[in-house]
Amino acid sequence: MVQTVLFNNEIVSRKEVKIDLEDRGYQFGDGIYEVIGVYNTKTFKMAEHLKRLERSAKELRITLGNILEGLEANLEKLIALNGINDGIVYVQVSRGVAPRAHQFSQLEALPVVIAYTREMERPIEIQEKGVNCLLTEDIRWLRCDVKTLNLLGSVLAKQKAIDNSCYESILHRENVVTEGTATNVFIIKNQIVYTHPADNFILNGITRSTVIDLCKEEGIKVVEEKFDKQQLLQADEGFLTGTFIDIVPINKIEETVLGKGEPGRITEYLQRKFNRLIN
Ligand code: PDD
Repeated sequence: MVQTVLFNNEIVSRKEVKIDLEDRGYQFGDGIYEVIGVYNTKTFKMAEHLKRLERSAKELRITLGNILEGLEANLEKLIALNGINDGIVYVQVSRGVAPRAHQFSQLEALPVVIAYTREMERPIEIQEKGVNCLLTEDIRWLRCDVKTLNLLGSVLAKQKAIDNSCYESILHRENVVTEGTATNVFIIKNQIVYTHPADNFILNGITRSTVIDLCKEEGIKVVEEKFDKQQLLQADEGFLTGTFIDIVPINKIEETVLGKGEPGRITEYLQRKFNRLIN
């Protein structure tokens, strides 16, 4: 089946997309993106994702102009046209096309927008069984709150995890645990849920915020506070959050078994509550 995608403001066949070799997204990673989950044909928290896209643009001084107008409707259209049941819709905005130069001050071109969908199987197995992780030094830049196309620090850390038969690298700066390569990290100690505060060292995940809200609603104490590697390894439970993987329990980090080495009680409780939101 020919895939239908969004290219600037038009819905076209994937073959019709032409990205210029001087697109700044291609040359500099000069752009932003969002990944929005689709569950049973419905997007989850689309408004929050588009708000974060807008914020990322503002932080990088990418002028969106009227790009956001009609974007939501177009993304929904793509999902319907491509018959997506479960999966994701990816949207990316690069600063645009211009003769190669680091500065963007003379740029008159409009940003280049693409979006496409992908049908995916729900990752039920890892949600139910949990995953093993690795600790990896966080070598990313200091604006991890911006969802930019520059992902080399994450790409290398994720590959390291895969090379070591792990699902995810849990990143740390010195001793402080920040987040995963494409996930936020939570631990639970003595029934209190901890996660890194939403500052410049992490991406403030939409799933992360949803889980924090769930904890508050359910009377589970949740603290947005930095924790270190030692606290991570000594946690009773731990889990990762992210779009489409939702909540994935951490069983083991390198040689250290977390809690009982299986999905913990509070983690499973939050998973059940989260599933109600998406279904
Ligand atoms: N990544 N932290 C990082 C560094 C991320 O890249 C992501 C998402 C998250 C989780 O955010 P959210 O809950 O809003 O998906 C945290 C997406 C899925 C990706 O790059 O594919």
